[in-house]
Amino acid sequence: MNKYDSEIMKSLLLKEGYKFTDAWEEADVILINTCSVRQHAEDKVYSHLGKWGKYKQTQKPNLIIGICGCMAQKEGMRLLEKMPYLNLVCGTYNIPKINELVNDLLKTDGPPKSWQAGRQIETSEVHVDFPAPLYEAKESKISAWVAIMRGCNNYCAYCVVPYVRGREISRPAEEIENEIKELADKGIKEVTLLGQNVNSYKIKNEKLKIKNDFAVLLKKINDIDGIERIRFTTSHPKDMSEATIEAVRDLPKVCEHIHLALQSGSDKILKLMNRKYTRTQYKELVDRIRKTVPGVSITTDIMVGYPAETEEDFIDTYNLVNDIEFDASYIFKYSPRPGTKAADMKDDVPEKIKKERLNKLLALQKRIAQKRNEKLIGKEIEILVEGYDSKDKSKYFGKTRNFKSVSFKSNEDLIGKLVKVKITEVKSGLLEGELVGKI
Ligand code: 5AD
Ligand code: SF4
Repeated sequence: MNKYDSEIMKSLLLKEGYKFTDAWEEADVILINTCSVRQHAEDKVYSHLGKWGKYKQTQKPNLIIGICGCMAQKEGMRLLEKMPYLNLVCGTYNIPKINELVNDLLKTDGPPKSWQAGRQIETSEVHVDFPAPLYEAKESKISAWVAIMRGCNNYCAYCVVPYVRGREISRPAEEIENEIKELADKGIKEVTLLGQNVNSYKIKNEKLKIKNDFAVLLKKINDIDGIERIRFTTSHPKDMSEATIEAVRDLPKVCEHIHLALQSGSDKILKLMNRKYTRTQYKELVDRIRKTVPGVSITTDIMVGYPAETEEDFIDTYNLVNDIEFDASYIFKYSPRPGTKAADMKDDVPEKIKKERLNKLLALQKRIAQKRNEKLIGKEIEILVEGYDSKDKSKYFGKTRNFKSVSFKSNEDLIGKLVKVKITEVKSGLLEGELVGKI
């Protein structure tokens, strides 16, 4: 979502005639679009800002530095007090105004003094009128993100998102369809629908009361010519409907991959997290998905070291991961987010234990992924070619419908094409293969 927002910001600035550079030393304006979800993300921002601030103070006093997105929303004016070299603080709600804010800063007479030019627009109103990013601003020309909703109402106890992105708001289906149609016309082949909880997507502006709105939206997008693949992320287990699972099974363009954040395998911790499901309910949901959608891949997010997580709680998580066998897991150490309910609890799992639990789960997941991926050796699988392999530019890189990364060699121009590849090897998460032919 953060990257998609960056594409919107880039589009608004491109429309004003601003040019972009990959080398920050060349820039007159540096905007950093931030994430607040974990402490680690914030630490990285402070380290970049420190570097740019020093550069500004020693070498380029006219440099404009702005901080945007979730950290800006959360910290507001405090950032300006902490970092006098900052010119701009633009929170998530104000992203559609970024062009006006930058224009205003550049219009001020002479070199802007940070403390004078620094500003933040405070508003409680969440923008629903986020413009669609321009194709020119898209990070990939093959696969595009499309936000279908913003914000979140779930208030998981550890999570800052409802505070920095506001209440859940669905975008009108027509607006989403138009955005995707335009992308398809430009040559985009795959869309990933984004929302903090896509299963609670609500179709608006429809006369009839619709049930299973997200499944209906998937059907509408499935009908758009030119789009070959549809993905979505993320689904909250408590809201995963049968209609959505059946849509994944029945709609030809919807890929057989579901990202379903587990967070913990301990009922005690799930309750403390306010996740509203038990380990048994989660397992039953996975079984149902696998039964309905043959060959589906299921990936997850897990946190270790949540307040009050004992060794027994961690073993519950470990055993559940071992039992379910996810195709991939994104595993994080818990970090308190000020303002959340969990931040009022004592962060009582020592860092050393958090690290140990993280490493144990990572090792388990690596073994599981290797085992599951090895089953694909010898199979011929459909790949959408997204570009070149970043580690070996003589090879192409693409993904299976199941969201597995594959690299293979070919002399033909295949970017953006659907091809069939025979899997020959599994190398630490990456599948290697040989081209069989175009589809
Ligand atoms: N600490 C660590 N991980 C977190 N996540 C969300 N909040 C926190 C936190 N306070 C993780 C969750 C979520 C993913 C996007 O980030 O696993 O699913
Ligand atoms: Fe955060 Fe929970 Fe909302 Fe996900 S569902 S964004 S974890 S509050």
